[in-house]
Amino acid sequence: MHGKTWACSLLLLVTLLLGLPAVGADATKARLNILVYGATGKIGTHIVTEALNRGHAVTAVSRNPTRITRRHENLSAVKGDLLDTDSIRSLATGQDVVIISVRGVIGDSKTPESALQYIAVKNVVDTLRELGDDGPRLIHVGGSGTLEVRPGVMYADKLPRLFLPKNLELEIQGQILALQHLRAVDDVNWTYATPPKNLTNGRRKGTYRTGGDRMLQDKRGRNLVSRADFAIALVDEAESATHNMRRFSVAY
Ligand SMILES: NC(=O)c1ccc[n+]([C@@H]2O[C@H](COP(=O)([O-])OP(=O)(O)OC[C@H]3O[C@@H](n4cnc5c(N)ncnc54)[C@H](OP(=O)(O)O)[C@@H]3O)[C@@H](O)[C@H]2O)c1
Repeated sequence: MHGKTWACSLLLLVTLLLGLPAVGADATKARLNILVYGATGKIGTHIVTEALNRGHAVTAVSRNPTRITRRHENLSAVKGDLLDTDSIRSLATGQDVVIISVRGVIGDSKTPESALQYIAVKNVVDTLRELGDDGPRLIHVGGSGTLEVRPGVMYADKLPRLFLPKNLELEIQGQILALQHLRAVDDVNWTYATPPKNLTNGRRKGTYRTGGDRMLQDKRGRNLVSRADFAIALVDEAESATHNMRRFSVAY
């Protein structure tokens, strides 16, 4: 038997004999320590659920962790703020993956640089750089405004700005800055996971497709996925590290 296969079989046997928790359907997969910023958010709650259901150890971050009411043996709820780099350093240390799924606009400057998504990416990248090779990977939940609807034209360029709430416009632009920022980073392991333009509360179907810069469309011309299925794509990425140092997009 091949050495690695033999080792995996032995690990599986030991796991079964000792009654240790196995991860997901594949008991030979390593259990990851995953830090989730935005754990109280609409996407983040699905990410936490998906990761816990696969046996990973999740540290869920909130500025007010009493808001995290869920209880699970592999879940810790902690206080943290992406504007506070000391707190990021202390929470990121010892993690395998940091996921950012947050939104907000900081201050009154009304510039895209004030989007929390951009500030968060910069602060986390700076911190992971300090942690060096032993530091965790970053997976950032990005914005569909960065997707191309045709070559050289982003979805954000086509949105009717006049009717967009100002903060949403700043966040869309901030997500573009976040992607530009990451694309210039070559010393921290990052991934920009891009949702489709329509995220739904539909059921977890267990299916999704991945693409690159171009906006994916289903047979009916729609670009959508449920938050539950987007979370599957995120945790698959955490486990597989398929899109290191690049962006990928998700849709049905
Ligand atoms: N079609 C699209 O492109 C699309 C659609 C939806 C969302 N998104 C993206 O997906 C991401 C998540 O969106 P969502 O709708 O799930 O967000 P959401 O439900 O509004 O949740 C926002 C989260 O941000 C956290 N947060 C805010 N300020 C923070 C800070 N200073 N430090 C740490 N955490 C902070 C909040 O945590 P606490 O309040 O508990 O601290 C909350 O969990 C965003 O980046 C958004 O741009 C994209």
